[in-house]
Amino acid sequence: MKNLILIGFMGSGKSSLGRYISGQGYRLIDTDGYIEDRLGRAISDIFGVEGEEYFRSLETRTLEELLDDSAQDCVIAAGGGLPLREVNRELMHRLGTVIYLRAKPSTLEFRLSGDKCRPLLQSGKLRERIDTLMAERKDIYEAAADIIIDTDGFTFEEIYGQLKEMIL
Ligand code: S3P
Repeated sequence: MKNLILIGFMGSGKSSLGRYISGQGYRLIDTDGYIEDRLGRAISDIFGVEGEEYFRSLETRTLEELLDDSAQDCVIAAGGGLPLREVNRELMHRLGTVIYLRAKPSTLEFRLSGDKCRPLLQSGKLRERIDTLMAERKDIYEAAADIIIDTDGFTFEEIYGQLKEMIL
């Protein structure tokens, strides 16, 4: 299926790049937004009431539904923790090309400072949370990706230009 799946840490620009790419003829699906719409609840509420594992199973269900619907020509902005589950990595590869938007911790810290929505960033010092989670996730993101793009200092137009040269 001809879909692009954007993965990466919170604040790596998946949703923003997804919106830019959707202007190039792709349908944007944001997995967080998809889940919130389906349940009529905020991510922070789901995390707070049922916890992270339940949320991860909703992410799996989202990917399964997209496959069942034979989603085509979509740009899918995946939640930052979605690639952590092996089943999700398999489902993503069945859906399309997986693109890791890699960003430096300093860039992420800048973009995420003041964030009040992301449950995993609400306790402790932001930079320490980023470093801890990134240490757990870095290898997973890299191994899950068909393509890795270093995004620091590039505009969405430039990143899309790089993507086009590589795959489109
Ligand atoms: C999460 C990332 C968030 C959201 C949830 C958990 C994570 O999505 O799915 O707060 O575990 O990295 P974004 O990456 O779009 O912020």
